[in-house]
Amino acid sequence: MKRILVTGGAGFIGSNFIKYFLKHITCEILVNLDALTYAGNLENLSEIEEETCYIFKKGDIRDHGLLDQLFLQYQFDTVVNFAAESHVDRSITEPETFLTTNIIGTQALLETTQKHWSKQAGNKYCREYREGVKFLQVSTDEVYGALGKEGLFTETTPLSPNSPYSASKASADLIVKAYYETFGLPVNITRCSNNYGPYQFPEKLIPLMIHNCQVDEPLPVYGDGLQIRDWLHVEDHCSAILTVLEKGGVGEIYNIGGNNEKANIEIVNLILETMGKDKGLIRYVKDRPGHDRRYAIDNTKITTQLGWKPSHSFEQGIAETIAWYLANKNWMQNITSGVYTQYYEKMYQF
Ligand code: NAD
Ligand code: DAU
Repeated sequence: MKRILVTGGAGFIGSNFIKYFLKHITCEILVNLDALTYAGNLENLSEIEEETCYIFKKGDIRDHGLLDQLFLQYQFDTVVNFAAESHVDRSITEPETFLTTNIIGTQALLETTQKHWSKQAGNKYCREYREGVKFLQVSTDEVYGALGKEGLFTETTPLSPNSPYSASKASADLIVKAYYETFGLPVNITRCSNNYGPYQFPEKLIPLMIHNCQVDEPLPVYGDGLQIRDWLHVEDHCSAILTVLEKGGVGEIYNIGGNNEKANIEIVNLILETMGKDKGLIRYVKDRPGHDRRYAIDNTKITTQLGWKPSHSFEQGIAETIAWYLANKNWMQNITSGVYTQYYEKMYQF
């Protein structure tokens, strides 16, 4: 793991992962390839942009020519694919980019990776690869669909996605599996539950509610607010990905979750309480179409086989997260005002 390509590293989890990785691993090269869509924010990485091994490339994972050039230039031995359209609500209003980025983009990455890591470039029947290489696809628990009141998602739960977002992620998982089965490409897939923590774009539940509390705007709760998500601190997701990179069996899928189910309304009430705001700010609004009722992860495989476990309790993690957003009002303000999009021009005057 010395020469790593991270895609989507300017987003929420990708940027946390890059910082986590650089703190824990000595690497020669870490290239962050990110298209800087509305969700990409280079301010998330300001504390590491001077690191000598760190290189930022603005570009699209669908661009075969660019991928080829990066592989030739940097000779990666590890690829971690975070790049995606990630917001379920946007996948309802504008599904097409979810399909092109999440599915076609993943295939473009796999294709380039297969070509450059193969011991016989161009020979699709050669199933031998350079030593120590790995492609990790960052997937989601949403590929399994929705649970009723009982049960947990295991790695063998059938895929049953319900939104254009989750359908595109499930499709990507199947393409990754196909490159493993057909070409023998050394891959892993991780499927994590809902992340929370610093640098999350304020369209997602937790940062949106914190922002709206700050500015005394209504907190939109979909439907009855009793939908359940399993919440994991983003740093625990990062440590799980690193664990899978280091110890994951080739071709294996690992669920990642924190055994921490909460109804949305519980989260909203907790934020209101912590921020000393009135419950009168809550507005029950029209439900998300096809809204999955409950997600919950069985993390037995990664905990028992790879020895990973989360290190943040939800109570402490959410308190720290709220404190982080309150201490970083400028970060939030730069997003809500649109100023964050100017960061690239300011920092990277090529
Ligand atoms: P995000 O939306 O915050 O970040 C996505 C990043 O990908 C952005 O920086 C964006 O600019 C970049 N990107 C988008 N399209 C691109 C393209 N075509 N080429 C290159 N870069 C592109 O997302 P996130 O919440 O950090 O999620 C990261 C990954 O983790 C996604 O694959 C998502 O499906 C998965 N995931 C997220 C969660 C969660 O709770 N947020 C949970 C499980 C899995
Ligand atoms: O489970 C993992 C997934 O978690 C990831 O794959 C996705 O990329 C990530 O966005 C997240 O998806 P969700 O749809 O669960 O997250 P979101 O923050 O959008 O919503 C969390 C819950 O809160 C969900 O039940 C919808 C609800 N919600 C959300 C928003 C934005 C509201 O009630 N009101 C809101 O305004």
